[in-house]
Amino acid sequence: MKLFYFHTPELVPDAEVPDCAIAIDVLRATSTIATALNAGAEAVQVFSDLNALRSESEAWPADRRLRAGERGGKQVEGFDFGNSPLEVTPERFRDRRLFISTTNGTRSLQRIQQAKTVIAAALVNRQAVVDFLKQEQPETVWIVGSGWEGSYALEDSVCAGAIAAPLQAQIALGNDEMLAAIALYQRWENNLYGLLCQASHGQRLLRLNCEADLDYCSRVDVLQVLPKQQEPGVLTAAPRASTVQAQTSVA
Ligand code: MLT
Repeated sequence: MKLFYFHTPELVPDAEVPDCAIAIDVLRATSTIATALNAGAEAVQVFSDLNALRSESEAWPADRRLRAGERGGKQVEGFDFGNSPLEVTPERFRDRRLFISTTNGTRSLQRIQQAKTVIAAALVNRQAVVDFLKQEQPETVWIVGSGWEGSYALEDSVCAGAIAAPLQAQIALGNDEMLAAIALYQRWENNLYGLLCQASHGQRLLRLNCEADLDYCSRVDVLQVLPKQQEPGVLTAAPRASTVQAQTSVA
């Protein structure tokens, strides 16, 4: 396996397609997506355009859909949710499709949707992603940060490092950014909350009184869910690699 890290979707090569692409938006889109699927959402459908979300979700039965819209860290008027994973509850999300558009995270997922396999990763479900990579061994893996409006994001880079670090014995590093991400994680793995609080988007969220979001989004491996794209822009909870392994070993 060769792993590459790209700080933002804008940096992803145009003319190539990897075997596996992993979108990261620790604060907060992929943390929210993992939390929603873990709470029993039927699927999460991502949009970079709010109007496209509005029109496509209109065709969905009202009692089977939820709409999340965020811009600049704030909820968009007329939507059920902003983008806080702390708003997710099984009672509200079970068996419903979450239609979501955020400032950056949903753009990353749209940018990589042509890859053979597309995964959404955050610190909260890091181990599920590591287990998947160990199980599937894709030849080329692009890990794509969401950043902020085209700029680098510390929190996404540290998550990319958190995914690659346990795999170092069995991977090749595709670019310098991947090595730097591993080094960043090794420096901060025991104080990820502290790192998120120093990140520029973490600072923005703290100004919006979202400290509890940073605390939650910094918790490594608390969810065993693997958000995997089933069709372009639509992610569902894939069977966990360890579960698949257990099933095949029993068969
Ligand atoms: C993003 O898409 O950049 C973030 O998820 C924004 C947020 O914190 O909601």
